[in-house]
Amino acid sequence: MKTKYAIVFIFIVALVIIEKESNIISRVSDKLIQRQNPQQTPQTPLDYRNNTSDNLLGLSSLSRGRKHILLLATTRTGSSFVGEFFNQHGESMFYLFEPLWHVERMLASSEEGNTGTMVGDVYRDVLQGLFLCDFSPLERFISPSPQEHVTAALFRRESSVSLCEEPVCKPVIKDVFERYHCKTRRCGPLNLTLAAESCKSKQHHAIKTVRVRQLDSLQPLVEDPRLDIRIIQLVRDPRAILASRMVAFSSKYRTWKTWALDGQVPEDDEEVKRLKGNCDHIRMSAEVGLSQPRWLRGRYMLVRYEDIARYPMEKAQEMYRFTGIPFSDKARDWIVRNTQTTQGASGIYSTQKNSSEQAEKWRFNIPFTLAQAVQRVCGPTMELFGYKFVHDKNTLVNKSISLLEEKVFY
Ligand SMILES: *[C@@H]1O[C@H](CO)[C@@H](O)[C@H](O)[C@H]1NC(C)=O
Ligand SMILES: *[C@@H]1O[C@H](CO)[C@@H](O)[C@H](O)[C@H]1NC(C)=O
Ligand SMILES: *[C@@H]1O[C@H](CO)[C@@H](O)[C@H](O)[C@H]1NC(C)=O
Ligand SMILES: *[C@@H]1O[C@H](CO)[C@@H](O)[C@H](O)[C@H]1NC(C)=O
Ligand SMILES: *[C@@H]1O[C@H](CO)[C@@H](O)[C@H](O)[C@H]1NC(C)=O
Repeated sequence: MKTKYAIVFIFIVALVIIEKESNIISRVSDKLIQRQNPQQTPQTPLDYRNNTSDNLLGLSSLSRGRKHILLLATTRTGSSFVGEFFNQHGESMFYLFEPLWHVERMLASSEEGNTGTMVGDVYRDVLQGLFLCDFSPLERFISPSPQEHVTAALFRRESSVSLCEEPVCKPVIKDVFERYHCKTRRCGPLNLTLAAESCKSKQHHAIKTVRVRQLDSLQPLVEDPRLDIRIIQLVRDPRAILASRMVAFSSKYRTWKTWALDGQVPEDDEEVKRLKGNCDHIRMSAEVGLSQPRWLRGRYMLVRYEDIARYPMEKAQEMYRFTGIPFSDKARDWIVRNTQTTQGASGIYSTQKNSSEQAEKWRFNIPFTLAQAVQRVCGPTMELFGYKFVHDKNTLVNKSISLLEEKVFY
């Protein structure tokens, strides 16, 4: 009998606590919203639907000036940070963060052996759908399956401004047990029909992905007459990438640590071969882009992480110029706020870092043996991008020696 009362009592206390916390959360999030949009006025999107003039493809004039930006990167190259340059653009941008995560996960867990080409084709088709505001190709890969096009499982939804603002975010009124799906607002699960509508109403679309391995595989996407694609390939010193991955995914990279202690890296090991494969893919994609084949002319830009870290504003401006989208004050403000501070969050996907300082940190984290190993297997990639080799440990950790060749890519 006593325990029964005790349980009821605990339950009530818990309820009170939850209620209190959710009030605090809601007050904090209201504040955040206010701060983000100090003088927000309700916006009625312009109706361009029947203002099409003579467009042969039957596109609305909204989609006529529409740019589709694909930010192509690999993990630990600062792609979340650079993605924000576009995510923070303002009301006319629809940005998606890593939607191919779902595809990769489902293909990896499926029974059939998936060849690289087939995976590349699937990635491309999903990207094509998303650029056209069609979420159905992606929906097939979301697990658990969306119900009536509503899902609570979209990967990193909160990293997309447009998915966390009205009208896509339907504020949840007061259910204390509800899990909210955005950081700054109490949003319910994502209604993909609403997301598609929001996508269609935005002037420009941008997607960031670290999953496309070969630029070649995107040719049909780039040639799609309904799209006006701009591809920005983001690269980084492979030694820095390895150092960063060893910190971010430390258990996965345990073997590297063992090798560092041994002073030897076995080059026929699968891990090392994978690193070589990654480097080769990045280099081959860049070679395709830089060779300016007809289908890519004027649509490809190569950017080094290190240049962005040193000159974030200039590089952002350059990227915007390349895309043909006006550089907005909002994007500019975001960059100012996020490149000049050493404090702030430092989660593994954090974008709030003193970027120029951050960019060099790896030199003190990576054991010299591993730097040498990367130089051996990624040599041609490093040469192409202008990353200087080091031949002794002192050079590696001497900050007055730059490991970056000044290089302009066309
Ligand atoms: C434009 O479309 C609206 C409905 O979307 C319709 O009511 C209106 O008549 C159309 N105007 C013209 C000029 O076609
Ligand atoms: C379409 O809309 C633009 C901007 O509102 C306007 O300048 C233009 O005249 C319109 N074109 C047609 C064909 O209605
Ligand atoms: C999702 O949004 C669409 C468009 O507003 C609406 O028609 C549909 O009912 C919504 N779905 C659910 C399950 O609420
Ligand atoms: C950021 O780091 C750079 C390089 O170490 C340093 O010169 C600069 O003062 C730092 N900026 C801030 C605001 O901490
Ligand atoms: C770092 O490199 C500079 C330039 O080569 C050199 O003058 C300096 O002595 C080096 N510092 C150390 C600690 O080796």
